[in-house]
Amino acid sequence: MHKVVISGTGLFTPPNAVSNEALVAAFNQYVTDFNTRNAEQIACGELAALTHSSAEFIEKASGIKQRYLMDASGVLDSERMVPLLPPRSNDELSVQAEMAVAAAGQALAKAGRTAADVDMVIVACSNLQRPYPAVSIEVQQALAINGFAFDMNVACSSATFGIQTATNAIATGSARAVLVLNPEICSAHLNFRDRDSHFIFGDACTAVLLERAESATAANLLEVVDCKLATVFSNNIRNNFGFLNRCDEGNSEPLDKLFVQQGRKVFKEVCPLVGEHIVAHLAANDIAAANVRRFWLHQANLSMNQLIARRVLGRDAAADEAPVILDRYANTSSAGSVIALHLHHEDMATGELGVLSSFGAGYSVGSVILRKC
Ligand code: COA
Repeated sequence: MHKVVISGTGLFTPPNAVSNEALVAAFNQYVTDFNTRNAEQIACGELAALTHSSAEFIEKASGIKQRYLMDASGVLDSERMVPLLPPRSNDELSVQAEMAVAAAGQALAKAGRTAADVDMVIVACSNLQRPYPAVSIEVQQALAINGFAFDMNVACSSATFGIQTATNAIATGSARAVLVLNPEICSAHLNFRDRDSHFIFGDACTAVLLERAESATAANLLEVVDCKLATVFSNNIRNNFGFLNRCDEGNSEPLDKLFVQQGRKVFKEVCPLVGEHIVAHLAANDIAAANVRRFWLHQANLSMNQLIARRVLGRDAAADEAPVILDRYANTSSAGSVIALHLHHEDMATGELGVLSSFGAGYSVGSVILRKC
């Protein structure tokens, strides 16, 4: 069995930063227009008036201040409220592949590797823009990588599930180096007309290069000490979009073909699940939580992360122990914890430990214990 290290990470950040204020202005315009257009029905009780959103609520409830979007113009147009991403021909690189190629290039450069060193590509994310051919195979071709590629989806936990898959492949010798890529265009499955959730997501793509420790030469190496994955079925985060939709001629519930969640239930159920998961994972590896230098947690909600860190550490985590990036990026699904890792690991000292953890729909939880080499 080969020891495995993360030797490079990359981050593609979309060009359009959108503040809570800008998002709320578009939402509130939509609400005002809706209520004006339907004033008579609202007055006679046939229709419920819509309620405005608030930037203060968003920051207080979630910790999010802004997000980056692949397209802001379509989202901020109160008549549309859907990103404008024009279709590309089959001969052009698809949008998700383009994001993944950009992030992968950074990870390869950090690792001091080229495409010739890699023989497996995993694209792991919440939403893939098509069923086939796999986006990962398109990325493989764009980067001129020999070997094989496949897509996988474990919602927000896709990155850690991808990292475990890559680690196993390298440890057992079926690949020398693996790229795990997380191109998330969450804005395309978010209902920007839903007051409860219109602020939740942002777009981004992360990349992680894993390889055999014995031949890795990069300046910053993180040894994969152990991975632990878990899933428990829940309908509290659900998206019914899929290829069977066209068989439902009435298309009776178009809004359930987007992200839908019971936010309060998710909060209550997922925090203990993740806290116990990390505690058990550390115990199984004889590691005291006090000896973990950093937690790169999934970035969905600030209070959730504070609660999970408190459960694991038995006290509040310092900002430097559990870095927050959701204030700038919002929830970028599987990319979130990897953005935290990408931006906050190079300062760690040799021997220090960290835990990368993702959690979300499924429910799914993943944790990866890493040691700075
Ligand atoms: N603007 C202003 N007020 C709003 C609002 C908005 N956009 N959305 C909801 N509110 C109001 C509600 O009307 C409610 O008011 P009331 O108390 O007078 O009835 C109040 O705020 C609380 O609403 P609630 O939906 O219970 O908010 P919350 O505190 O649960 O926060 C989330 C909402 C989504 C931020 C929170 O539940 C969450 O983050 N959950 C976990 C989400 C998650 O991690 N999902 C994983 C996806 S991968």
